Amino acid sequence: MATPPLGRREFLAASFAAPAAIAGVTALDPLERALQEAGTTAPEVLARDELFWSRYQEAFAIDRSIRLLNHGGTCPCPSRVLAELQRLEHQINTAPHRQIYHVLAPQLETVREGLAADLGAHPDEIAIVRNSTEALEICQWGLDLAAGDEVVTTTHDYPSMRNTWEQRKQRHGIVVTYATFKPPATLDEIFDAVTAKITAKTRVLHISHLTNLTGQLFPVRRLADFAHARGIEVIVDGAHAYAHLPFQIGELGCDYYATSLHKWLYAPVGTGMLWVRKEKLRKLWPLFGAPEPHAADARKLEHAGTGPIGAKLAIGEALRFHRALGVPRKLARLLLLRERWFAPLRGHKNVILYTPESPALASGLATVGIRGVDPIVLADHLWRTKRIVTAPIVIEEVRGLRITPNICSTLDEVDELGRELLAVADRGLPPAAEPSTR
Ligand SMILES: Cc1ncc(COP(=O)(O)O)c(C=O)c1O
Repeated sequence: MATPPLGRREFLAASFAAPAAIAGVTALDPLERALQEAGTTAPEVLARDELFWSRYQEAFAIDRSIRLLNHGGTCPCPSRVLAELQRLEHQINTAPHRQIYHVLAPQLETVREGLAADLGAHPDEIAIVRNSTEALEICQWGLDLAAGDEVVTTTHDYPSMRNTWEQRKQRHGIVVTYATFKPPATLDEIFDAVTAKITAKTRVLHISHLTNLTGQLFPVRRLADFAHARGIEVIVDGAHAYAHLPFQIGELGCDYYATSLHKWLYAPVGTGMLWVRKEKLRKLWPLFGAPEPHAADARKLEHAGTGPIGAKLAIGEALRFHRALGVPRKLARLLLLRERWFAPLRGHKNVILYTPESPALASGLATVGIRGVDPIVLADHLWRTKRIVTAPIVIEEVRGLRITPNICSTLDEVDELGRELLAVADRGLPPAAEPSTR
């Protein structure tokens, strides 16, 4: 029997209910099938299976008229995460205060347990915050430091975090020392550059796991062991490494680990996580006053007022999406995409790769420069002529474009980038791209 057509009211009701249902079904089922079919195929083999990855491309509702190759900034959410966020926002708005504090707040514990399990940590060690910045600032302001105490960080660490240490320098008289190195660097070179800055007065070491400038990997474990042997606390900025590199928190040996969940976990914008080693929790002051500031419980670090609980709860859906795929498969695909756009440029006399090539040091982020070409003008040229989005990086040691495809990126998108960069490496920018003629 034919289904009778919907009346206007039924049609509206169905349309209103549709986003969650349709997004959930169309995104989830093909993925489940793809994962079943993939079975135990080795990640490096699966990385070349375009049918498998086409299902992941479809799981994101991104605008394909833009070739989005700057996922190092903020990543899009899969449709099923967006659907969950939307469902939660509707629920919150049925009775906001009651929903936020009485109904949904307790459910955040399930997300905390999920994040803890993924990291190999205890839920009491996990604070769910807004981003890496908040997570890092909690540590940077929450440690007792006196005038003359030294903090060692690097010129490759994130500018906002360097600003924070500079502010503590002005307010509290601490000393901030910067290690530097020329990328691409070996782990030994970074270890030597950082440890050379450590003195008897060093109290804190603040380093990145993967840098935002070039995706350079740091020898976190070796540096943490070196620091701990001298009574130094270790803060790691993991904005780019969580849900991107395979690790359990215990392997890193650090004391504090901060990350944004709206990057590689694909959780909604405005979500982040701070892990604090259990023994360090009592003495870490909350950034926002808490009833028990010396509790050995990272929940004390979350008293930031009424906030986006819907986004925080939707982390659970992002975590399920992430764990079903798994880091090894994701990383293998990211490395394949990187190889795909970089292969035509390898060995070109005008091309400089600022990121290590060795797969042992590589990730989905890579920064490439073209001799004599201003990265800002190049990024603008790629955007205007090909709608390719990249991130120009200009510091003393690096003048390039940071390229970050993601699992939703297509081969066509990265191929287009490779072709364009090769054309500029061969012939330079067309005259119209030069700022003087615009
Ligand atoms: C290394 C690093 N640390 C910290 C941050 C700050 O992240 P958020 O803006 O999510 O707080 C970023 C942002 O890109 C980053 O790359």
